[in-house]
Amino acid sequence: MIADIQQLEKAALAELENARAEDSILAVRTKYLGRKGLLTGLLRNISQVPIDEKPLFGKRCNEVKEILETKIDEALQLQTQGEKEESLAREKIDVTLPGRGIRSGRIHPVIQIRREICDIFASFGFSVVEGPEVELDYYNFEALNIPKDHPARDMQDTFYIEDNIVLRTHTSPVQVRIMEKVKPPVRILCPGRVYRPDSDVSHTPMFHQIEGLLVDKGVSFADLKGILTAFLKKVFGDDTTLRFRPSFFPFTEPSAEVDIRCVICQGKGCRVCGQSGWLEILGSGMVDPAVFQNVGYDAEVYSGFAFGLGLERIAMLKYGITDIRLLFENDIRFLKQF
Ligand code: FA5
Ligand code: MG
Repeated sequence: MIADIQQLEKAALAELENARAEDSILAVRTKYLGRKGLLTGLLRNISQVPIDEKPLFGKRCNEVKEILETKIDEALQLQTQGEKEESLAREKIDVTLPGRGIRSGRIHPVIQIRREICDIFASFGFSVVEGPEVELDYYNFEALNIPKDHPARDMQDTFYIEDNIVLRTHTSPVQVRIMEKVKPPVRILCPGRVYRPDSDVSHTPMFHQIEGLLVDKGVSFADLKGILTAFLKKVFGDDTTLRFRPSFFPFTEPSAEVDIRCVICQGKGCRVCGQSGWLEILGSGMVDPAVFQNVGYDAEVYSGFAFGLGLERIAMLKYGITDIRLLFENDIRFLKQF
């Protein structure tokens, strides 16, 4: 019987050794020390132990019981402690690591320029309007005094959707759409995307223009010069030198293109300005009476001026960008600089 106790102790301790989780430790306790447990069972059978072995048997039973109780308690304690340490290690935050930061977006340089220009003209009393990018031939050409077969159509290569529907080649059709709707005085600015089948370092098939139109009684070329000069000095700085160069557009008469002194070479002549020292910024002119007639304005009473400028061109000059296509490649490393 004494041997039974010895064996039971050995087995119990071995099982405890292997019990890792709380459940299995508690299972060992139930198996040996529970009400129907093995050690409890041994003690219950004490009557069958020979009389002279009884005291030793009882003593050994109690010893083993105590040992097992202590070991089980220890195991349980170790187990909870281990679990705590494990969860601490798992949830540890290294506060000395550098922060991850938030990658914020930014406004595309072309849109920054658009906002800047709209703000400047808003301060001159112009309001912003928009028009469709898919446009009728009539508004893009015809109403602007560019009839079919007119050689001026070659000035602007065109994407045709159907015979009489085009992707607008400029923002000028919006002038006509507005004048059809409202009576003078008119002071509008129209930003938007335009399309032409062109592609090289200074041309892309889609680009942005801003159209301006002012119509009232007694508007003269001096007003055109004054407003465009004030505007360009705000964008490029007060010491910018400008020149108004005679030009031709079917929808303005007289017409002028405005150049600024090359910002790259300061007028000495370089590759960017084609050695001329000047860079074309916009087209402009006094609204042609033929256009007024198409929208029902009386050219004897009203006069006005219009202009159209390329936003990418302005962004390139302002930021020294030498290839227009960089603006549309969506390379974050490039766009981040503005
Ligand atoms: C026009 O588009 C006229 N509608 C401007 C105008 C408006 C004149 C009102 C008079 C009165 P032009 O074709 O020159 O003009 O284009 C104007 C500007 O658009 C150019 O100075 C240039 O900066 C820009 N541009 C033209 N083609 C492209 C292109 N493929 N890619 C990028 N920019 C372009
Ligand atoms: Mg031009």
